Amino acid sequence: MAVFAEDVNLAGYTTLRLGGPARRFVEATTEAEVVAAIRKADDAGEPVLVLGGGSNLVVSDDGFPGTVVHVGTRGTERTAADGDRIHVRVQAGEDWDPFVARCVSDGLAGVECLSGIPGRVGATPIQNVGAYGQDVSETIIEVRAYDRETGAVVALDRDACRFTYRHSAFKGNDRYLVLDVTYALHEAEESQPIAYAELARKLGVEPGDRVTLKEARDAVLELRRGKGMVLDAADPDTRSAGSFFTNPILDAAQLADLERRVAESLGPDATFPRYPETGDRVKTSAAWLIDRAGFTKGHTLGPARISTKHTLALTNPGGCSTADLLALAREVRIGVHKAFGVTLVNEPVMVGVTL
Ligand code: EPU
Repeated sequence: MAVFAEDVNLAGYTTLRLGGPARRFVEATTEAEVVAAIRKADDAGEPVLVLGGGSNLVVSDDGFPGTVVHVGTRGTERTAADGDRIHVRVQAGEDWDPFVARCVSDGLAGVECLSGIPGRVGATPIQNVGAYGQDVSETIIEVRAYDRETGAVVALDRDACRFTYRHSAFKGNDRYLVLDVTYALHEAEESQPIAYAELARKLGVEPGDRVTLKEARDAVLELRRGKGMVLDAADPDTRSAGSFFTNPILDAAQLADLERRVAESLGPDATFPRYPETGDRVKTSAAWLIDRAGFTKGHTLGPARISTKHTLALTNPGGCSTADLLALAREVRIGVHKAFGVTLVNEPVMVGVTL
């Protein structure tokens, strides 16, 4: 039986420890309970918020005036094999990092660089979770979801998911509720080729080399811990929603404008991070722009603070409200725009608030 409650404080369910009360709160532990809770709310014309690990959510201090469905479905099964790949279907409510840890110990490659990411499996396709040279679009082959428009359960293949950088068909709309995700993973003791320069350096290998799955996982965890990006109750820098802004992708004109502004403010020899994208587009680093616009690690506005370990994480060190956090986010966004002409876009999902 699903558990129902009223006026549940959402701060206890977000990694930022922020957010007011939910009018109704349903704890659903089977697919049938999840679907029934959504149908009931939809039929009553109530707003619905689907909650997993709460690691990518910024919830209003006023809370949520509808039904929150906390997805706690569990289970992992091997469903098929093709070539050297094993298909693993995972329920949306499974915690992500323990799943990654099991893949690493079971000799399944493809998600090892995504170690230490908070949240649950159901969230991974939504923003095409990625880090250290891997993202889940490389391994996801199917997402089963409840389609709130038609009331049917549907299976979307990789193309239908329309994955791009931190985006997919599931992001920015409430049509689909992810029920389970199938990953195709390579049976291998070695990692996929290491694609991220910082990780390769840490491992003492060249980009493109492979290491053991465990070596890759351990190195990623160490890098993430150093940036405050592994949840740790004893470390207030981890009371965040991870990267608060996506890395901007610039077209040729925007890039030329940034080059000019960087040269003007930091000198003619100054360089900035650039990662090639499709066409003549280039991705740059939000963390770098924030830093060079003067918002260095540990910068505060009222009780909200930029992490002391990474400028891209906005944190609640304690005593902060969502309004306080958003004031800091706006200060950063305005400051970066003034300095570099780039408008940063928030990466976490905003509930009842806008930037
Ligand atoms: N930098 C600074 N100051 C800082 C931190 C970083 O100037 O305080 C500069 C450095 O020049 C560095 C560059 O920013 O080279 C990039 O930093 P980093 O390598 O830490 O990566 P990122 O671009 O900030 C992205 C993802 C992370 C992912 C890491 C590692 C986004 C928005 N962020 O961060 O993903 O873990 O790469 O792959 O794409 C997430 O999306 O929530 C997330 C944590």
